[in-house]
Formats: sequence, structure tokens, C-alpha cells
Amino acid sequence: MNEYTEIADYYDLFITSGYYDYEKMATAIATLISPTQTVLEVGVGTGLLLEKLLKIDSQYNLTGMDHTAAMLKIAKKRLGDHVKLFEADIVSMSSSNQFDIAISNGGLGSFVDTGGECNFYTHLPDDESNVQALQNVANSLHQGGLFLINIQGTHDNYEKPLPGGIVYSQEVIESPTYTDCIDKTFYFKRDNRLLAQMQLTYRIFKGEAIEELFSQAGFKSQGKDESGQLFIYSKK
Ligand SMILES: C[S@@+](CC[C@H](N)C(=O)[O-])C[C@H]1O[C@@H](n2cnc3c(N)ncnc32)[C@H](O)[C@@H]1O
Repeated sequence: MNEYTEIADYYDLFITSGYYDYEKMATAIATLISPTQTVLEVGVGTGLLLEKLLKIDSQYNLTGMDHTAAMLKIAKKRLGDHVKLFEADIVSMSSSNQFDIAISNGGLGSFVDTGGECNFYTHLPDDESNVQALQNVANSLHQGGLFLINIQGTHDNYEKPLPGGIVYSQEVIESPTYTDCIDKTFYFKRDNRLLAQMQLTYRIFKGEAIEELFSQAGFKSQGKDESGQLFIYSKK
């Protein structure tokens, strides 16, 4: 579920057109990690964030995982042999205490700042999968390891021109199928002709449910980082 296959070829175009600021995020992450530490990005996508980290320090020890083969193929081209990549679903991923730091930049999920509150949005609609996925992240970390999760803006309806005459738009509705979820549809068009389309379901955790979820999975909140772009969790 929620694979990015249909839009992989258009992903970089729209995500770098103001959706995420990778340089700013990499700079914030670089203040929290060192080249001697091992880093795993869950839901690495096309590798844009890890590429920026390598520009800051080519010695970083980076690994990326994702369940969308088409996204990993682009990441492999971008990152070459500098980063280890593997294909896995975060819900069934097996790993054994190998990393010091895990990152989710819209991978497993993101925090969304609504102006008044920060809610946790994930790619997994049901409770069980969310606990399992977070436990898998915890299991992949050494004791005391950190899990860094990005904070982003709200998922709204809008349309935006992209280079090459492509028009990107997104539509967000309350999910008719799952409780506490939204369905978001991405459209890429040229001359009003549909080039690619994909629908995702995001689960939303609010208030105390967020800390309950992380605590159940073995994490303790360390609050926001200094830049205000990340929430930091440590493995209990
Ligand atoms: C919004 S993209 C973020 C990609 C990348 N982190 C970035 O900053 O550009 C979300 C990525 O998470 C991956 N993803 C979503 N659910 C996943 C799951 N259950 N297991 C592994 N990867 C997943 C998708 O395939 C996609 O590549």
C-alpha cells in the first residue's frame, strides 16, 4: 500500500519545487549526527536528502530503505556506491540494532504543523501497522539511538506549474474507508492530459495518541531540534 510507483518519474520535479527544502533539512540533521555514526533513512525515496547530507560531509555512513523499487532505482543512480540501499516494507522490515540514527523525512511519516498543533501523519492507515513499523525502527537502532522526524506544512488542495509545461495538483479528502485518515491524490498533467496520478492514505495521530504510539514502540520524546524542523525521539 502507498507505493510511489506511478509518480516516481515526476517525484523529483514536484518535491524540489518548494515542497521540501532538502538543503535546510540536511543542515539541521548535520548538527545532530557525526561521520562515525551509522544512519538509516526509512522511506529514502529518490535519495534527495541523503545526497544533500553527502554534500555536507562525504564521510557520512548512510543507508536508505524503501518499498518502492522505482524510487530506489532513481536513488541508486543519484547516490551510486556512496550509500547502501535496500528494498523493504517498513512494517515487515527485519533489522538488528545496527544504526545510531534513523530518519523519516516523509518516509514512514512526518509531523504536520497546523499552526496550532503538530500532528503525526503516517503512510500506514491502521494502528497495528504503525506500532509494528515504529518497533521495527526502534529494533534497527542501538540503545539510546535517535529517530529524527521532519516537520512539514499542511496537506492542502492546490495546483502548481512545474518545469517542462507540467502542471502538478493535489487533492485532499477525509478517507471514506479508514478512520482518522485522509486520502491525498497527486496529479501530473501537460496540456490538460494526465501524465501520472497516485492516491495515498495518511493516518493522523493527534495529542496524547502520538506519545502513546511512540512509547508503545519503545521511543521517548526529546522534543524539537534547535532549527524547529525536526522532532527527536530516542530509543528507550
Ligand atoms: C514522501 S516520499 C519521501 C521520500 C524521501 N524521504 C524524501 O525526502 O524525498 C515517501 C517515501 O516513503 C516510501 N514508503 C511509504 N511507505 C513505506 C513503507 N511501508 N515501507 C517502506 N517505504 C515506504 C515511499 O515509497 C516513498 O518513497
